[in-house]
Amino acid sequence: MANVLVTGGAGFIGSHTCVELIAAGHDIIVVDNFSNSKREALLRIEEISGKKLKFVEADILDQYALKMIFDKYRIDAVIHFAGLKAVGESVHMPVEYYHNNITGTLMLIKAMRAHNCKKIVFSSSATVYGVDNPVPYVETMPTHTSTNPYGYTKVMIEQILRDVAVSDPEWSIVLLRYFNPIGAHKSGLLGEDPNGIPNNLFPYIQQVAIGKRDYLGVFGNDYDTHDGTGVRDYIHVMDLARGHLCALDYALSNTGVEAVNLGTGKGSSVLDVLHAFEKACGRKIPYKIMPRRAGDIARCYANTDKAKELFGWQARYGIEEMCADGWNFIQKNPNGL
Ligand code: NAD
Ligand code: WQD
Repeated sequence: MANVLVTGGAGFIGSHTCVELIAAGHDIIVVDNFSNSKREALLRIEEISGKKLKFVEADILDQYALKMIFDKYRIDAVIHFAGLKAVGESVHMPVEYYHNNITGTLMLIKAMRAHNCKKIVFSSSATVYGVDNPVPYVETMPTHTSTNPYGYTKVMIEQILRDVAVSDPEWSIVLLRYFNPIGAHKSGLLGEDPNGIPNNLFPYIQQVAIGKRDYLGVFGNDYDTHDGTGVRDYIHVMDLARGHLCALDYALSNTGVEAVNLGTGKGSSVLDVLHAFEKACGRKIPYKIMPRRAGDIARCYANTDKAKELFGWQARYGIEEMCADGWNFIQKNPNGL
């Protein structure tokens, strides 16, 4: 069992992963600045796991705070979720996105190196596949283009981490490329809780279902897909959380760098998700067809062979469970956490 530092552990994916890490017997320390999360998430992790959580409220840009954490705890590995993630916002605030995500990661790597901690699992994204690769996306495809600053932070951080691995063969680095994480913890205590108007499909549908918004705007129905709406590889956040445990185990016993897709390999359209959610909540979800959203692609889904071969990991849940768990969460937390 390892001592694991979890950056961004109060966030959507981080909080679910903390629950799984604790259940697996790891000793974890969370660092978060709550720029996009709430302290309540940490209390919910404690409630689910029945354990007191070690937590430091700090910004990963703060080198003194990082030094203090690494001095105090003997950290074997880091799972690095902390980052800003809103695609549209990144177009308007590129400097803030590059600084937070890239400088933050550099600060973290420096603190790790100074304390001889050389194992990291990084939250990358399917967005690194850009717009030119054909689906399904395979890890060996080129990843040097993106459509927005957020996506470029992931492309660049992957490159930085690869260069670190080349410079020092003792490093062990796993770049996890998530597809579209949705759903919630079975208890309904944890789930996605975005600030303001949701940018992403699933939290928007949740808010229409609960009556907070009148209808879903469907961004385009003239794509080359089975019903004309955009197709994505939605993955249950608990499957994703379990994927991090596998990646951590791998990093603890291997060196070098590996990029690994975490998806289901199956594509679902906007209307497929909407209808699955209607089934889960037993209500109609009103929608209107709108123009396409800038930067969107028709289809995005994973080839999942590598995760299976390297980690023995496969997604277990389909969109029915994702919708049922998402509905349970929003019903129990209509105003978020
Ligand atoms: P989230 O915003 O819920 O979680 C990120 C957490 O990091 C938040 O709690 C935030 O407060 C914290 N944070 C941000 N900057 C920080 C800083 N400088 N110092 C300390 N804490 C900081 O996002 P999420 O959906 O849980 O995503 C986690 C990671 O996975 C991110 O790196 C994101 O880019 C990546 N990712 C997310 C998705 C997705 O669709 N949710 C898909 C692919 C990749
Ligand atoms: C899904 C589908 C939309 C909202 C984003 C990031 C990506 C990754 C995951 C971090 C698309 C349609 C959406 C709405 C809609 N994040 N849609 N109405 O764009 O696939 O991926 O999150 O790395 O980088 O870009 O996710 O949930 O925004 O959209 O019709 O109100 O739903 O057009 O087809 P996306 P999404």
